[in-house]
Amino acid sequence: MKIKETLIKATEEAGKILKENFGGEFKIESKDRESNLVTEVDKKSEEVIMKIIKSEFSDHYILTEESGDLSTDSDYKWIIDPIDGTINYAHSIPLCCVSIGVEHKGELIFGAVYNPMGNEFFYAGKGEGSFLNNKKIKVSQNNNFRKSLLVTGFPYNTSDNPRNPVGVFAEVVKQDIPVRRLGSAALDLCWVACGRFEGFWEFNLNAWDTAAGALIVTEAGGKLSSFEGGEYSVYDNEILASNGLIHNDLLEVIKKGKTSQV
Ligand code: IPD
Ligand code: CA
Ligand code: CA
Repeated sequence: MKIKETLIKATEEAGKILKENFGGEFKIESKDRESNLVTEVDKKSEEVIMKIIKSEFSDHYILTEESGDLSTDSDYKWIIDPIDGTINYAHSIPLCCVSIGVEHKGELIFGAVYNPMGNEFFYAGKGEGSFLNNKKIKVSQNNNFRKSLLVTGFPYNTSDNPRNPVGVFAEVVKQDIPVRRLGSAALDLCWVACGRFEGFWEFNLNAWDTAAGALIVTEAGGKLSSFEGGEYSVYDNEILASNGLIHNDLLEVIKKGKTSQV
């Protein structure tokens, strides 16, 4: 099987596991902090994904949230989040997904994000475009920041985060612009890609949260940057994603919010 087919198969099979177990009984443990959860289903999902990838590409580099950095000297790297939105999943909230990105020589070439509860499969290939359930998607064409709908997320260590995520949130809300918090960064990015949101920002994310969604946004015509406006890398922990048209407006508010007192 080729990389694209393997990616789709692994994402679909993991999605089946999420759907079968959704709302049922499963073991839930805390990780580094009490609020940071991992379920038995995260582990099962990751196991299936890794089995499928390894059966086709035993030498590829794999980075996963639950098993860590399984480094090899391959030019191909799979970046896996077996459930993005675990807290939602553990509370039977159907806003969660499987997220898998593939890099070649450090460049994202494929991404897949699947929410089986919502029956939504997002996919992007470098130079191919982005798709939702096989239909091409595009970012919103709204260029009026005041009429935007935005989405964000808060780090689980907001209370001791010196970079002021609450100040930034307050600054955006003070503009009278509606903001949502879905609880899955991968879906936040995909929902920017398909035009539901004009913009998304979040502090403290990891490569597995954003790898697939980042390519899905750019292939849908959107823009990514750091909070300083520079080029975004999935190994940065801050991300600003938008339809491109309201990017600078949102960037200015974020910069202001970083130093504002709440
Ligand atoms: C989390 C989600 C959430 C974001 C957190 C992430 P997880 O991923 O993407 O939206 O706010 O920072 O850790 O833990 O459910 O895979
Ligand atoms: Ca995640
Ligand atoms: Ca996860």
